[in-house]
Parts: sequence; structure tokens; C-alpha cells
Amino acid sequence: MSAEPIRVLVTGAAGQIAYSLLYSIAKGDVFGKDQPIILILLDIPPMLPVLDGVVMELQDCALPLLKEVIPTDKVEVAFKDIDAAILVGSMPRKEGMERKDLLKANVAIFKTQGAALDKYAKKTVKVLVVGNPANTNCLIASKSAPSIPKENFSCLTRLDHNRACSQVAMRCGVSSDQVKNVIIWGNHSSTQYPDVHHAKVNLQGAETEAYQAIKDDAWLRGDFISTVQQRGAAVIKARKLSSAMSAAKAICDHMRDIWFGTKEGEFVSMGVYASGNSYNIPEDLIYSFPVQIKNSTWKVVDGLPVNDFSRAKMDATAAELVEERDTALDFLSQ
Ligand code: NAD
Ligand code: LMR
Repeated sequence: MSAEPIRVLVTGAAGQIAYSLLYSIAKGDVFGKDQPIILILLDIPPMLPVLDGVVMELQDCALPLLKEVIPTDKVEVAFKDIDAAILVGSMPRKEGMERKDLLKANVAIFKTQGAALDKYAKKTVKVLVVGNPANTNCLIASKSAPSIPKENFSCLTRLDHNRACSQVAMRCGVSSDQVKNVIIWGNHSSTQYPDVHHAKVNLQGAETEAYQAIKDDAWLRGDFISTVQQRGAAVIKARKLSSAMSAAKAICDHMRDIWFGTKEGEFVSMGVYASGNSYNIPEDLIYSFPVQIKNSTWKVVDGLPVNDFSRAKMDATAAELVEERDTALDFLSQ
């Protein structure tokens, strides 16, 4: 193990997602089994005692890749020279709320942290925004960090992507790794559009279109979509807490793909800048698209045919993002 350690920041590090996430990062599941890591853990001052407990537990895991753990409540410490930032820290929604109800509480956090990225982080830093509403928070963080390329910012819709894969896999009686190329279009919200028109299912060695494999268009256009759209709310209703284990797994999948690339012939879903997309989505948004990643650079998969059903859903979720963006910018100008 000769590589220099990379500096990885996790915000909201005393919270429930971080508790499921930190072990996977520290043991090499995300940045590689040979990559030493310095973990920087940011939370707010009242949570510092809890953070101390998290640090103790990380130490007690005795993980060879983990060179140092730095707990802090100061952005100038947290964002200094970082290679990767996983921005989780923010308020989660409660039962009965939509994620956009969190805008007022959370958007200011992402403005401050964007400014800190701009001032202290490496210009090559890769930034993943998880805190909700994730797309709009990501847009605000990026706008607040003009010296960092827009392409370095993305938001998490991989949880929705994984949910969609899993629903299709269960329906077909296969494991989730036999399903590929589902797409989450748009916002990480209840207007998102989980789309399987381009998805394939491996049925006993035969790669089959998802619509052919499932043979139930009504389900695919109805309950499948609403189940994925409402899954976050269903978990909150059942657990009285928002999803954490599955969110942490999705964060690992997303960051690992940024670091190591996507598999040949496969795409994944990620909220990225809409600029230059071929799907007529308004440009100044972070919108979830199918992407392929090579050399740590994502590219939207262009030119997939879009039927009228899909077009209407892609536009509806874009319209919600435009509204969220304008509300966020209003809050920040007050
Ligand atoms: P949590 O309440 O358990 O933890 C959040 C942590 O963030 C707390 O420790 C809190 O003190 C900290 N925090 C608050 N403000 C901060 C700031 N300015 N700087 C640093 N830390 C700060 O919540 P959680 O369940 O871990 O969820 C965190 C966020 O992730 C929520 O907004 C939730 O809605 C979102 N989420 C997103 C997805 C997704 O797929 N995009 C999935 C699950 C959860
Ligand atoms: C999720 O999708 O589970 C998270 O975004 C939490 C939520 O508020 O739904």
C-alpha cells in the first residue's frame, strides 16, 4: 500500500446515514482496497460529543486504510484540500412532508458549504450532495463554488435507481445484478420518473427487454413508478426515520462509479448539470440522467428514444426543479 492518502469529507457525520456509511468508506469499498484515507467528519457544535463516539468506533474497527480521522465543526478545517466531499449534513423530512419542504432549512447550508469548497478544497474535488432536496442543494453548492468545475458536482439519485432495479428484479424472480440500465429522470422527489424502456433483464442467460421480461405494462406504467417515487415516504412511515442503510449503500455505489467508472455497456442514474443535454431539459438545473463514467468524468447517455409517455413525465419533473431552483434563489436573496 504505497499510495498517498486521499482526504474524504463526510458532513452530517454524527447522523444516521453517516453511521451506516463511514465503515464502508474506511474499509476501502469506495475508493479502492489500496487507497489510504484521511476521513474528515463535519457536524454542528452540539453534535461534537456524538462525533467523538463515532471517531472512537472508527478507531476500534482497526482498519489498515484509515490513516487519520479528523472530527470538526469548522468548515475551514473540514474542506481544506479535500479530494472528495459527501455532503449529507442537513435536516431530513418527517412523515407527511415533501423533500422540497426542507428547502428553507437546508439551502443555506449548501450555500455556505459551496463557498467553503470554493475557498479551501482542491479544484479537482468530487462533490456528492445527499442532503435533501438533493438536486437543488447541489445546484446551490455548485453556484456558490464558481472556481470548481460544474462537472465535479452531482447529487444522489442512485438510491432511486437501486430501488427501481430491485423492484424489477423481484418481479422477474432474478437477483438485482441481472437488471441493468434502468433510468431515474429528474428530481429526487415524488415527481421523479423511473423509466425501464431501455432496461434489460438477464433471464437465464438471455438478455431481455424489461417490458418483455415483465409482460405487465400496466404495472410498469403504474404501481412500479409510484412505488419507486414514494419509497422514501414509505420507509419514513414504517421506520419513523428516513432511509439510512440503503442511502449509505447508494452513496458508495455512486462515488465508486465516479472513482472507477461504470461497467462497459451499462449506465447509472445521477443528478448532474443539464447543460448541453440532448433531451431538451432546461440547462440551469441539476437533473438526474442516465450517465456513463470513464476517467472520473461522466457523460450523459444521449439519443435514447423518448416516447410521449416518458416525455410528459420528464417535463413534469423538470418543471418542479425549475420551481425549486427559483424558490431557493429567492430564499438566498432575502
Ligand atoms: P440525521 O438527522 O440523522 O443526520 C444529519 C446530520 O447532519 C446531523 O448530525 C446534523 O447535526 C448534521 N448537520 C446539520 N446541519 C449541518 C451542517 N450545517 N453541517 C454539518 N452537519 C450538519 O439525517 P440523515 O438521516 O443522516 O439524513 C441526512 C440528509 O440526507 C437529509 O436531508 C435526508 O433527507 C437526506 N437523504 C437523502 C437521500 C438521497 O437519496 N438523496 C437519501 C436519504 C436521506
Ligand atoms: C429517501 O429517498 O429515502 C430519502 O430522500 C429520504 C426521504 O426523505 O425520502
